[in-house]
Amino acid sequence: MNILITYMTKTNTTKEVGQKIAQVLSAHDMSVDLIPIQDISDMIKYDGIIIGGPINGMKWVPEAVAFINENQALLRQKKTALYFVSYLLHNSRKIWKRSIRTSLNPSKNIINAGEIGMFGGKIEQSFPTPVRWLFGVNKDLPLDTIKWDDVIKWANELVEYFKKD
Ligand SMILES: Cc1cc2nc3c(=O)[nH]c(=O)nc-3n(C[C@H](O)[C@H](O)[C@H](O)COP(=O)(O)O)c2cc1C
Repeated sequence: MNILITYMTKTNTTKEVGQKIAQVLSAHDMSVDLIPIQDISDMIKYDGIIIGGPINGMKWVPEAVAFINENQALLRQKKTALYFVSYLLHNSRKIWKRSIRTSLNPSKNIINAGEIGMFGGKIEQSFPTPVRWLFGVNKDLPLDTIKWDDVIKWANELVEYFKKD
């Protein structure tokens, strides 16, 4: 089974998550390519395609949304899964969390993606106080909020999804 994981990233988190997913799928005898979204040319050979990107401005990055829109005809014929990384996913005001959690729904619907993975992200410096207040972020929140167990769990769900008829 040939799987493509394609990603857009600004500070590498989405790629690191993609690498972990690739490890899990490879351990289940899947052949996995991990390729930046801007380098994708041909996707015909893949049985399953996973598309990842960070949340910026409470939305999935426009590059990921555009990729889906532009390739929707082909993506609709494949098993697909989407994921995002977001620093505020688990730790912000309800209104932001809701906006983040639903931000991939239009893309999911366009291509009938079977799975959505939602993961914490990381930032390099803590937010200034007014920004923390705006987002409702606790002052003790670590800079890195990725829960690798969540990533591994989702990757195992993907194994089932891709293997299913
Ligand atoms: C320009 C910019 C905007 C961001 N906006 C958000 C946001 O709206 N919500 C959020 O949860 N995280 C936001 N983040 C944090 C990212 O989700 C987090 O840093 C993530 O790990 C970045 O993934 P990447 O390294 O793959 O780019 C933002 C980060 C950057 C650099």
